[in-house]
Amino acid sequence: MSSNESSAVLTNPSALWHKACTAVNRFKAWVALDGGNLSPGQTLAVKYFCVAVVLFFAQLLFGLLAALQFIFPGFLYEFLDFSVNRMVHINAMVVWMLYGFIGCIYWLLEDESGTEIVGLKWGNLAFLILTAAVALVVLVYILVQIGSGTDSSLWFINEGREYIEAPRWADIGIVAVMLVFAYNVVATFNKGKWSGIAGVLTLDLVALAGLYVAGMFYMTNITHEQYWWWWVIHLWVEATWEVLVGVIMAWSLMKLLGVRRKIVQTWLYIEVALMFGSGILGLGHHYFWIGTPEYWLTIGGFFSALEPIPLVAMVVHAVYDAGAHAFKNSNHPALAWIIAHAFGNFFGAGVWGFMHTLPQINLYTHGTQWSASHGHLAFFGAYATINIAFFYLAIQHWRGGVWMAGDSQNAWRWKWALGLLNAGVLGMTIALLIAGYEQSFIERAVEGSTWGGYFSAQNHPSFQNAMVWRLIWGLVTFAGLGLLIWDLLTIGKGETRKAQVIEPH
Ligand code: HEM
Ligand code: HEM
Ligand SMILES: [Fe+2]
Repeated sequence: MSSNESSAVLTNPSALWHKACTAVNRFKAWVALDGGNLSPGQTLAVKYFCVAVVLFFAQLLFGLLAALQFIFPGFLYEFLDFSVNRMVHINAMVVWMLYGFIGCIYWLLEDESGTEIVGLKWGNLAFLILTAAVALVVLVYILVQIGSGTDSSLWFINEGREYIEAPRWADIGIVAVMLVFAYNVVATFNKGKWSGIAGVLTLDLVALAGLYVAGMFYMTNITHEQYWWWWVIHLWVEATWEVLVGVIMAWSLMKLLGVRRKIVQTWLYIEVALMFGSGILGLGHHYFWIGTPEYWLTIGGFFSALEPIPLVAMVVHAVYDAGAHAFKNSNHPALAWIIAHAFGNFFGAGVWGFMHTLPQINLYTHGTQWSASHGHLAFFGAYATINIAFFYLAIQHWRGGVWMAGDSQNAWRWKWALGLLNAGVLGMTIALLIAGYEQSFIERAVEGSTWGGYFSAQNHPSFQNAMVWRLIWGLVTFAGLGLLIWDLLTIGKGETRKAQVIEPH
């Protein structure tokens, strides 16, 4: 195209629209996916999956910017500050994972209830509203980076609560969207049939949406503020999200391996009982140093130390089922990611969480890179993995139920994506653990948590080297995601063999 033509395109909206449409059509022809393979609920699910992947990409991009700023503090200073990059990084994470979970549930809903989804129109409308709201919130985060903390900034710009900074108008929108979602789920099960999985799922959705409300009320007392904020953060990730992945895993294991319903359901009940049993009072491990009464030291230490137990049960469940069926399954990449989930959840949440959950240890490690080390391995290991497993289940079906195994064409892509993503996150986790260990030692133990101690720790070579290694492993993770996206778009293309049929036994 000549430069004249391109400037004509830029100034002419209809030409621009035409160009965009041609590009979209070319892309569609390239991926060659047939929407005719999807049921109505699944069509809605894949919309959620697509946005989830875009946000996952944004998460890593902003994470890399924040990691660069650790090493070059002047990089983008006063243009795109660290605080903003960090916020977008972790908000994008929470939101893409929620999109992924909603997608998973819309995907399994019709199969599990044995009927067509109820309220599809509302579901589609809610998807559009939510996506527009997310885009607007992120735009405002980036455009309005600083300002006064008034009521209007709380309502329209930023609520200032880590992970859930979205302004209050968006909070109300999110609750409305969640109500539509809950209606779709309950009404569909009601029209079709209920099951143990359906019951656990419905109760969990009520808890998940209800807890979000606990993070919507601004309080001037910082202790009160933190007290309720943890109701969302801890109780989401250590109770309701864990139960949600229990449900998703139970359903996936039936489909993938042909495990009998009675077995997955029994496991699910045990896991849920253990998770709520330890996770609810385990909340106390965030109440050690925020001004709450001292008894939380004992309660939080004791119950959160029990939290790894259900995670062990989940590993045994997944690996035992796979072993009992001789690893015979219909989708190798999905099974590989489910196994990555079982171990990632156990190590990231269970082992890395346990390391610093006793108050005697947390006194030294609190708020250091130790927490970031755990945060990365836990969120990735427990929640990114299970979503990715589901993306593979979905794409297999979308391609018409084709063969997807280690000997498929271009199988190197899914294997390398699996390897790079897991190695990248593990590498970052170790780098951050070294930094956290050094901070606990120099800043806390040696220098007694003084301001000077903070700077000695930050300037220590082992801290600074660790930040460089975090960036390097972050780039490996990013490369893994690039490959994953390429693979998801192309895997199964041109495959003529049908997937192996797995009979329940
Ligand atoms: C998948 C489940 C989990 C996820 C996603 C997760 C994630 C996180 C994240 C991101 C933080 C940092 C929060 C902040 O910004 O202040 C954190 C803190 C913490 N987590 Fe977890 N966690 C999980 C499970 C667990 C478990 C099972 C335990 C204990 C056995 C645990 C123990 C802790 C402790 C003690 C802290 C406080 C760290 C500090 O004092 O700075 N976590 N978790
Ligand atoms: C390209 C790879 C990544 C890079 C370079 C990166 C970088 C960062 C940086 C610089 C921070 C701020 C840490 C601080 O305040 O000291 C951060 C926080 C965080 N990141 Fe990442 N990240 C990456 C990938 C991920 C992934 C894959 C996940 C999980 C799925 C994740 C979850 C988190 C969480 C939960 C926090 C908050 C931790 C806390 O509050 O302690 N990040 N990340
Ligand atoms: Fe927690």
